[in-house]
Amino acid sequence: MPAYICGVGLHAPANIVTNHDLEARVETSDEWIVTRTGIRQRHIAQGEVTSDLGTQAARAALADAGLDAADVTHVICATCTPDSYCPNTATQIARKLDLAAPMALDLNAACSGFLYALQMARALTTLEPGATVLVVAAEVLSSRVNWTDRTTCVLFGDGAGAAVVRAQPAARAIEIVDAMLESDGSHGGLLTILGGGSARPYAPGEPVGDDFFVQMNGREVFKVAVRSMTDVCRRMLERHAMTVDDLDMFVAHQANLRIIEAVGKKLDLPAHKVFANVQRYGNTSAASVGIALAEGCADGTFAPGGRVLLTTFGAGFTWGAVLLQF
Ligand code: ACO
Repeated sequence: MPAYICGVGLHAPANIVTNHDLEARVETSDEWIVTRTGIRQRHIAQGEVTSDLGTQAARAALADAGLDAADVTHVICATCTPDSYCPNTATQIARKLDLAAPMALDLNAACSGFLYALQMARALTTLEPGATVLVVAAEVLSSRVNWTDRTTCVLFGDGAGAAVVRAQPAARAIEIVDAMLESDGSHGGLLTILGGGSARPYAPGEPVGDDFFVQMNGREVFKVAVRSMTDVCRRMLERHAMTVDDLDMFVAHQANLRIIEAVGKKLDLPAHKVFANVQRYGNTSAASVGIALAEGCADGTFAPGGRVLLTTFGAGFTWGAVLLQF
């Protein structure tokens, strides 16, 4: 049963924080950040919550699909920085879009959230062929970044990417050809936001500790990220009897330019087929590949007829690959 991405959209907060701005907050330098990560700036929300960013991206995706909010039957919000534990963020996006009682759930697969949500949307359109599924990947990572920790605060940004998924093509028709989504919880401790969870509860009045924010063993995450994304992409290509020559573009999770380039090299991809916008957004976690997809559709990077491979890696660890036919 084919499933199609019928529209895409993105939203990034207007407020831009450059590496030079961060030099005033922690002991770092533009040169260090650019050399180690490729990141030059990130968008940081001011007064906007995750569902606000997600709603804006969703509106853009619906407009791109030529569909109305009234057509939406399901909302999946991929996020690890929800507005709140309860209510979930998807219901708040549905409320802000004035949707009529859709199924609305949040999904947390950290930075792999957009691909995990695409696969869930694909499953829903198979079960309910008339469904119009709004996939929204939105993050306000800045709310869970420790702005005094230079090893993490320079890496992340806020934003949202959205896609409309249906069993029938609409104004746009990007076929989701295949998806492989995987995980390994044994590395969970290498990248965490623990505080406030049932395993690390806080009592009323107690100040939050460092564990309330992103904590990461950067070097180890780097190695596993490169290995996992390379491996799943190789298996995806093999499964379709394809080589990298059959790909028109390759989009990896936009965490770090060095990771993206390392995966591209291991797959023997020429540099011009390797997408990168991490320089302008930083790591927007679940939103990263959604933003890349919307940006690449808008500027013509992904041309009709092209084949594009998406891959992600995130906390958990979770990772995966999705093959698209434009
Ligand atoms: N500015 C200046 N110096 C810094 C900074 C900073 N912002 N951060 C760390 N340093 C220092 C360290 O303290 C260390 O100093 P020391 O040698 O005196 O101890 C030195 O720089 C080297 O630190 P390393 O951590 O070894 O630097 P590395 O080359 O590994 O780069 C980085 C760090 C960029 C975090 C890298 O490990 C990385 O990209 N890892 C992957 C992280 C990532 O992308 N995670 C997200 C993927 S999954 C997801 O998105 C959820």
